[in-house]
Amino acid sequence: MNSDSDLQIAGDILEVQHLLRPAREHPSTVSEFVGLARSIAADRARWSDLVRYDSASRWYHRLHRGPGYEVWLLSWVPGQGSGLHDHGLSSGVLTVLEGELTERTERGARSLSAGAQRFFAPGYVHEVVNDSLEPAVSLHLYYPGLTEMPMHAAQSAPRAVDAVPA
Ligand SMILES: [Fe+2]
Repeated sequence: MNSDSDLQIAGDILEVQHLLRPAREHPSTVSEFVGLARSIAADRARWSDLVRYDSASRWYHRLHRGPGYEVWLLSWVPGQGSGLHDHGLSSGVLTVLEGELTERTERGARSLSAGAQRFFAPGYVHEVVNDSLEPAVSLHLYYPGLTEMPMHAAQSAPRAVDAVPA
């Protein structure tokens, strides 16, 4: 017993539904965006039939749109990559759904297998490639929605190109 308080709770607190905060319909924090990506990743029926593999270019499909954010589904055949880029003013969550991707930054390379997640802030520069021998699928959440994806070349200024999720 807490002798500093006169308040006592009798019965099951979980039965007091009106005191529990309802789940937010849309994410608004980093952890909520990461959680949304994780819940979509776990719901295979929501995305598995939509995946396409295109050897000509990386395939992408907008899976979901909410207020101020977008979620894209991407596929990568072996050898496909994004090139070195940033995401303009967007933050993002990269989640690997199937296969394995490699993320390269100025700090080195990181192997990302299914279930791996990376959150990045505006200005983050990376390159994502499928260095494996199997296709890969990934989920990309951007907040705000991606409007530009400047490409970077080593030792040069960013070059503006159309926004393609990566
Ligand atoms: Fe990216």
